[in-house]
Amino acid sequence: MSASGTKTKRDFLKLSDFSRDELFRLLDRATELAKLRREDRSPRTLTGKTVALVFEKASTRTRLSFEAAVSELGGHPMNVDTQTSQMSRGEPLADTARVVSRYAHAVLFRTFSSERLHTFANAATSPVINGLSDDAHPIQLLADVQTLREHFGSVEGRLVSFVGDGSSNMARSFLEAASLFGFKLRLVCPEAFSPPAAEVDAAITTIERDPKAAARGADVVVTDVWTSMGQEKEVAERLRAFAGFTVDATMMRTAKPEAVVLHCLPAHRGEEITADVLDGPQSLVWDEAENRMHTAKALLEALIIA
Ligand code: CP
Ligand code: NVA
Repeated sequence: MSASGTKTKRDFLKLSDFSRDELFRLLDRATELAKLRREDRSPRTLTGKTVALVFEKASTRTRLSFEAAVSELGGHPMNVDTQTSQMSRGEPLADTARVVSRYAHAVLFRTFSSERLHTFANAATSPVINGLSDDAHPIQLLADVQTLREHFGSVEGRLVSFVGDGSSNMARSFLEAASLFGFKLRLVCPEAFSPPAAEVDAAITTIERDPKAAARGADVVVTDVWTSMGQEKEVAERLRAFAGFTVDATMMRTAKPEAVVLHCLPAHRGEEITADVLDGPQSLVWDEAENRMHTAKALLEALIIA
């Protein structure tokens, strides 16, 4: 029997693993948990529960927000990384997943390919959360949408412009989020860095190439690094390909006057975004980073105790 008992386990590998209603309920709970924390009344809903955090790539926000989330709800976070575990010496991923599941009531896994993520999730007997893979970053989108809902009241019908690497995990999770949460998405990227066509819902998403028109009329402008983790060898080629796609004050002047800026962080000031925009009054990035913790709490409750 797994640490999670005999219940059928449920994973969160992509946003659409939850229904639209479940996602909205999760975000409502995240906002409630944020309020309770401000009042120093965080509930102890994870008392006696252990959550493993397994990283094959670097992390600051994901690791710390989940550690804080688990601790504040009364549970125990357990960190595992490739360097300090037998994963570095080639222990099969599926064996690691099986063993970790015997100790932990849920497991967050940050990895490379979708295949690795699914190998891990299929072998695990506790719920697995995608902590970022090459093709998706669903937990970041929970925080991003929570941030927009708190700022605007609702995201439905808003125009979100994602500028940069349209083939990245963040762009691809924004594609999923647009359908589920009901906002319009404009993806502005060079042709060679487009998302897979099958992931684009033409009813709500437009793909555009001209960065000069990227932010026109947008409510939200989002960007992310041009070189994601694992793509370091492509830095020079990517710097050339994305020239002109920097989110800067000139671009922001074409957005709605009340437009806001998101970036999942870490950011490269002077590349995908200028310092004045990232650190300026339209930027919500610090709230967005904080909301990683509130949404992590709501997600863990939904997977472990619901
Ligand atoms: N945004 C995000 O996932 O940050 P980390 O890589 O620091 O976890
Ligand atoms: N696209 C980035 C996101 C980092 C949080 C990466 O995968 O490196």
